[in-house]
Amino acid sequence: MMMMMMMQRLRRSEEFIRFGFTSLINLRPNKNSVSRSLSGFVNHYDTKGKLFESKNGNHYNTELHHRCLGKNLGMLQQYKCFGSSSASQIERNPLFSSLDSKDVSYFKEILGDKNVVEDEERLETANTDWMQKYKGSSKLMLLPKNTEEVSQILQYCDSRRLAVVPQGGNTGLVGGSVPVFDEVIINVGLMNKVLAFDEVSGVLVCEAGCILENLATFLDTKGFIMPLDLGAKGSCHIGGNVSTNAGGLRLIRYGSLHGTVLGLEAVTANGNVLDMLGTLRKDNTGYDLKHLFIGSEGSLGIVTKVSILTQPKLSSVNLAFIACKDYLSCQKILVEAKRNLGEILSAFEFLDSNSMDLVLNHLDGVRNPVSSTENFYILIETTGSDETNDREKLEAFLLKSLEKGLVSDGVIAQDINQASSFWRIREGITEALQKAGAVYKYDLSLPVEEIYNIVNDLRGRLGDLANVMGYGHLGDGNLHLNISAANYNDKLLGLIEPYVYEWTSKHRGSISAEHGLGVMKANEIFYSKSPETVAIMASIKKLLDPKGILNPYKVLPHSLISH
Ligand code: FAD
Ligand code: MLT
Ligand code: ZN
Repeated sequence: MMMMMMMQRLRRSEEFIRFGFTSLINLRPNKNSVSRSLSGFVNHYDTKGKLFESKNGNHYNTELHHRCLGKNLGMLQQYKCFGSSSASQIERNPLFSSLDSKDVSYFKEILGDKNVVEDEERLETANTDWMQKYKGSSKLMLLPKNTEEVSQILQYCDSRRLAVVPQGGNTGLVGGSVPVFDEVIINVGLMNKVLAFDEVSGVLVCEAGCILENLATFLDTKGFIMPLDLGAKGSCHIGGNVSTNAGGLRLIRYGSLHGTVLGLEAVTANGNVLDMLGTLRKDNTGYDLKHLFIGSEGSLGIVTKVSILTQPKLSSVNLAFIACKDYLSCQKILVEAKRNLGEILSAFEFLDSNSMDLVLNHLDGVRNPVSSTENFYILIETTGSDETNDREKLEAFLLKSLEKGLVSDGVIAQDINQASSFWRIREGITEALQKAGAVYKYDLSLPVEEIYNIVNDLRGRLGDLANVMGYGHLGDGNLHLNISAANYNDKLLGLIEPYVYEWTSKHRGSISAEHGLGVMKANEIFYSKSPETVAIMASIKKLLDPKGILNPYKVLPHSLISH
């Protein structure tokens, strides 16, 4: 009887089988990649940088309090905050100058009037992050067209001690891309040219302002793909990706940007142009300084050019959407998938039923592809070059998982539209969370066997106060822990933080797997890095940016960099 049921399921999955040669690129829908939340939660900083009011009119206590992290970490300050960040109560560094009309005239001289933005509406957008959680009050955005202009801007800002925020597509999720106060915004969006592509090596050289999706479209015509892909691809820039060391959906296959970025050009605070734009796979001549700029979130320099290793576009892509009863099964499927699909596995993503319900409730036109409602769902993508073999492999894998009772239901997409609709569920969670109201976002690296324990723990801890969701890049040990509530409130925040950070630290995880620290977690770095390591980071910051003008209040604890 059991075997008959399995065969029926397999037959059903055969109805959904592969989507062939043309399906390789653009499997993931674009329409959700640029959308902006309309949920309307905006933090307002007063002149001291306190978060004092949300757009929906609630007021928040910004009282200072402390916590002790024990012997090694010492006493750290934590500020009570609105939303999911410790960004409240930052004092504007009084050493920074304030913008005056002479500054604006100088920038107009070097950039031309139209690339010096003072228009209120455009500034409102540039001052506000994607989540509408962080909002600065910059009066100026500069749009350089080339490295030389970036260099001139920084040289001037450094001499005047004017603080700046490098900005890319402004899709960051930790408040790193927007000013905290009146920092000048430097957006490299006009620097968007592909400079070279080598069809033999697959090395792409481009300017930092290229939108990720445009690069993917360009490469498609050449028969290649980018080594990274993420839900924000329609807006995010490659320079922003490099500066955040973005992970995304393909990391399991192609590794992190520390491996695929072969070189870059960056401009340091004093306007020095560092040419590290190599295109070699191997180059062991001294310290590999480009790595300092990968993931430093605009705190050490502005990335102006990137050289990146792309991958040949292969002819066979398959995508399965499966349902599982429990987390242990998800974990076992991951282990089996690595063993059995190893050379073709290109994505392994998961979401829990709370995430699925949220997407179904808040996004139009989405439906659960499997007929049964389960506790967990997994997307398994394979990418290879042997149509028949790859498909058979995936089907055999799914059948085996069914037989073992690890999978309770599943389908394989039969065309691009179906594949896109599967990806829409996974990639749409971020947008659905925004629509649902207040969201406290955590982005954790944890041992895979621990990943879902923190979700369960938090559910127990928060009870009816909030909806706790777990999803993410399971194949990379990266959980996106999100807590959704009708409104931001201090009681809830007090139950979440520092609990989540302490839990993560106790399990030797990272409090930022891929989104970075930004302003949200600048003061929390000690949960994942030792004081000695952070002290060296602060020295590097001091060396490259002695006046601290580059993205102040971000990445490193304020106490270490605000003088
Ligand atoms: P911004 O948001 O503009 O900036 C991010 C940081 O980089 C800031 O600190 C900024 O100062 C700095 N910066 C930007 N450009 C430069 C530059 N040229 N030089 C120096 N510093 C610079 N992230 C992931 O890792 N994986 C995901 O799967 C993922 N999915 C997402 C899905 C959605 C729907 C959204 C909204 C976001 C997602 N993100 C994800 C987060 C975000 O898209 C990434 O961090 C992305 O890399 C940011 O790129 P950006 O161009 O928008 O940078
Ligand atoms: C994702 O994987 O969906 C992104 O990192 C965005 C998020 O965490 O919501
Ligand atoms: Zn992610």
